[in-house]
Amino acid sequence: MCEATAPGKIILFGEHAVVYGRSAIAAPVSQLRATATIAANNTAGIRLIAPDLEIDVQLGTLPDEDALAMTVRQVQRAINLPQLPDLTITVHSDIPIASGLGSGAAISAAIIRALATYLKQPQLLDNKIVSELTYEVEKIHHGTPSGIDNTVVAYEQPVYFTRRQPTNLIEPFEVKRPLHLIIGHTGMRSSTKTVVMDVRRQWEADSVTFEAIFDACGDVAKAARFAIEQGDMAQIGRLMSENHVWLQKMSVSSPKLDKLVDAAMAAGALGAKLSGAGRGGNMIALIEAGMETAVSEALFAAGAMSVFQTRIS
Ligand code: PMV
Repeated sequence: MCEATAPGKIILFGEHAVVYGRSAIAAPVSQLRATATIAANNTAGIRLIAPDLEIDVQLGTLPDEDALAMTVRQVQRAINLPQLPDLTITVHSDIPIASGLGSGAAISAAIIRALATYLKQPQLLDNKIVSELTYEVEKIHHGTPSGIDNTVVAYEQPVYFTRRQPTNLIEPFEVKRPLHLIIGHTGMRSSTKTVVMDVRRQWEADSVTFEAIFDACGDVAKAARFAIEQGDMAQIGRLMSENHVWLQKMSVSSPKLDKLVDAAMAAGALGAKLSGAGRGGNMIALIEAGMETAVSEALFAAGAMSVFQTRIS
């Protein structure tokens, strides 16, 4: 039996603009994880079990565009194996689904790593390969993914990411002082693909305005990297709040996200913004250590469905 895990993620700066080539910053959320277990199967074929998704199926019955089936096929293709041995893949995840925490990417990365170990294909455990294979699956969730989710989930470290052809720019960087973050979940699911497509429609209709917004987000991400490297918490917080305003202008926030952001700020957060595709999902707030309870309580009072604490270092 083989087991592997992969973390959830948050986007600290630059979501959406990253799709259009501007830099963005993302970090793993290591305490929220997806786990994949591979075991030998005494019946023919590949059985996929994901209790959280109420899935228990034979791989062969899934449509080609199914993300779990696609993940297995990516591995099969990468090692050029015409047929996989009979096996059972079980997937568990504590990462909320469709909420901007990278659950799809983490599940794919965990399956790829577990299969690579089970099939004795250590070359597939390389972070770059895990990221590339996960990216192919991400296209189902996202349509036109920037590549930031699969990168941060596979490398499991904070990254300054810029989408580039032929290869993306992936720059790990120093986090001078740990970032204490509170993640507030709106309880509303949101389809990244739909929101990303909607931003594209708006960009096509008014590219001058949207290019300027994307430029501003890129500038914020660049300044934020510098502030994180310097450990300048007040500046990081200000930049998060500024980024949220640009995301509002893209129309990807929502009344609930705005309410949680305002509540976190009123409770003393240094900065707050939505994180991920928006319209639902999560927001994040930067706090000084010791403010966890006050900000968490304020988020619950403002209607957060769940609240997680995380530390980026
Ligand atoms: O997976 P989410 O919801 O965190 O969104 C990813 C971030 C986007 O910038 C909106 C899309 C992308 O591919 O980068």
